Amino acid sequence: MSPTLTITPFRTPARGVAQVPGSKSITNRALLLAALAEGETLFTGALFSRDTRILCAALLALGYEVTTDEAAQTIRIVGLGGRIPKAHAKLHVGNAGTAARFLTAFLALAPQGVYEMDGDEAMRARPMAGLLDALTSAGCRALRADGQPATHFPFTLHTAGRLGDLEVDASASSQLLSALLMALPLSPGASVRMKGATVSEPFVVMTEKMCAQFGRPLVRDAAGAWRCAQPGPYRAAGTYAIEPDATAASYFIALPAVTGAGAGVRLQGYVKGGLQGDTAFAAVAARCGATLTPQGSALVVQTWHDLQGGEFDFNDFSDTFLTLATLAPLASSPTTIRNIGHTRKQETDRVLAMATELERLGVKVVPTAAELRADESLATLTIHPARAALQQAAARGPVAIHTYEDHRMAMSFGILGSYDLFGDGRPWIAIQDPACTSKTFPKFFQALEALRTRFVAVAVDGGAASGKSSTAKVVARDLGLLHVDTGAHYRSVTRALLDAGARAEDPASVLPALAGLRLGSEISGISSCVTLDGRRPADASLRTEDVNASVSKFAALPAVRNFLLAYQRSQVALGQAAGFAGVIMEGRDIGSVVLPDAEVRVFLQADPVARAQRRAAEGQTDAVAQRDLLDSTRATAPLVCPAGATRIDNTHLSLVAVVAQVKALVQSAARLV
Ligand code: CDP
Repeated sequence: MSPTLTITPFRTPARGVAQVPGSKSITNRALLLAALAEGETLFTGALFSRDTRILCAALLALGYEVTTDEAAQTIRIVGLGGRIPKAHAKLHVGNAGTAARFLTAFLALAPQGVYEMDGDEAMRARPMAGLLDALTSAGCRALRADGQPATHFPFTLHTAGRLGDLEVDASASSQLLSALLMALPLSPGASVRMKGATVSEPFVVMTEKMCAQFGRPLVRDAAGAWRCAQPGPYRAAGTYAIEPDATAASYFIALPAVTGAGAGVRLQGYVKGGLQGDTAFAAVAARCGATLTPQGSALVVQTWHDLQGGEFDFNDFSDTFLTLATLAPLASSPTTIRNIGHTRKQETDRVLAMATELERLGVKVVPTAAELRADESLATLTIHPARAALQQAAARGPVAIHTYEDHRMAMSFGILGSYDLFGDGRPWIAIQDPACTSKTFPKFFQALEALRTRFVAVAVDGGAASGKSSTAKVVARDLGLLHVDTGAHYRSVTRALLDAGARAEDPASVLPALAGLRLGSEISGISSCVTLDGRRPADASLRTEDVNASVSKFAALPAVRNFLLAYQRSQVALGQAAGFAGVIMEGRDIGSVVLPDAEVRVFLQADPVARAQRRAAEGQTDAVAQRDLLDSTRATAPLVCPAGATRIDNTHLSLVAVVAQVKALVQSAARLV
């Protein structure tokens, strides 16, 4: 067990881009489908956690070529079109339900395999019988050490290489069904039908969608049986981007409910209509009072306008019920969570674990933990508001929450502990074995800490090709800042002025052309991009020779600079509203004119030869020195190193080194005392 972690309550609103890892459910499905595909697939945004490592290790042990790059969050796998290189292997699935179920059905495709399968103690208690029964009917045998048919881990799987017409009881877990569905296209003529219903239907839909993404759509006939109309190996996906984990994101939707006014948390890539059913949590949160604003492919969560209870059916997105359950004691009315019986057989008995730990904090729950222990069929939990009881329970110091090797227990109570219960920042919750989050979210507590920051404005100035954009983009990405390239503003306006026939030498031609332009912004990823009359100019149109030749001339005109000044300043408010941890703006006059009060001001420089070489390496014809001369000698807002700015000469420095220096400055400015 890892050492207990005391949670420090947030005394300031949470803010920044939540560092949510890739989805576990998608990563593990994708790995399996790619192994069954013909050819190579590269995954980006992949999750690196205990459960995905277990599956990667198993695939390696089975003879597949799997290359991982954790820093880059990529996994490359070479699929073998349904062939499993090793006919014998010993595999340990830990407590990873996906690996346990998906691998078992996958291995059934080996013609004459013998696989010794085991899992952690907790996994040995989790449902497998539905899947093993179905495979047995297809000629597989799953045997215990004493030679009897197995219903749980551990077992030795003797495989027959086909599936046939199967019936599966997936009432205990939808993974039992998903496992068979993914193997289906590799066994021509096979079909899978469910006995009764399953829980967590959206995960079955995720499986269906992903089989189709990998080129083998499944169809369901009138009798409810799934089959693959055109069986065969899956098609390698080339490059496949894994969606960020919607369940993990639920903690950051919850956080602004407890951290006070002015919060803004940004969830990149959190989209409804993707593969994950757990995005349904957002609608529940909205009913309880969350302030959510979709923004392109991101969701911005602000301080909740209310925190109230209600009655909710969590059957379809039950992984997120713990997130709501831990907010419930702070709500103004009781919260009832229905249809979560199946979670009593997950990582732990989640309903009992939740009730036990809430009672430890003095919260009234119905049924009580004792009643849940006595009756395994209870599937609903009501949690009553309990602020006063919480204060009483924690009066003599932080209450240690037991996490039962369940990552979701640790993370959801981590959010509750972020609430400033006593109003003085005193910690009141400690999480036992916080490292159990490594199952799906190894850096959860770091990601939580990263949102404890003050909004900072960062000004980066420097001459042409001094490395401003490269540096600013990486710093923005790493620290969750909104990136603003003001050079692109000048280039866009120049493009429009040239197109309108204006000439820098003839200021009279500039004013009317400017008057007709309306500026706007569009956030793309982490960058704010300028729009002119509602449209974003194409990047290539901004670096043409005519723009390079005249941009500095237009930029020297006070009319042009004035036209852009208020717009550029407004980017700070935009970054705040969009939930960024700050804004990093690059240009020639940011620290001196646009944002003279920026908390961090940096001036980048490099010798002219190095800068000319950088441009040439980018394949650009650009009279860098000439533009610098114009920029630094003009009367209005000349290029200067702003007073108090940190000057960094990067002629001989790597990008990594410069980024590290700027990040350190930003982090110390953003730190809250
Ligand atoms: O990428 P590069 O450093 O070559 O230039 P840029 O950032 O795209 O900026 C193009 C031109 O816009 C500069 O040469 C300046 O003349 C002008 N500019 C400015 O005057 N003030 C700013 N804050 C940013 C750019």
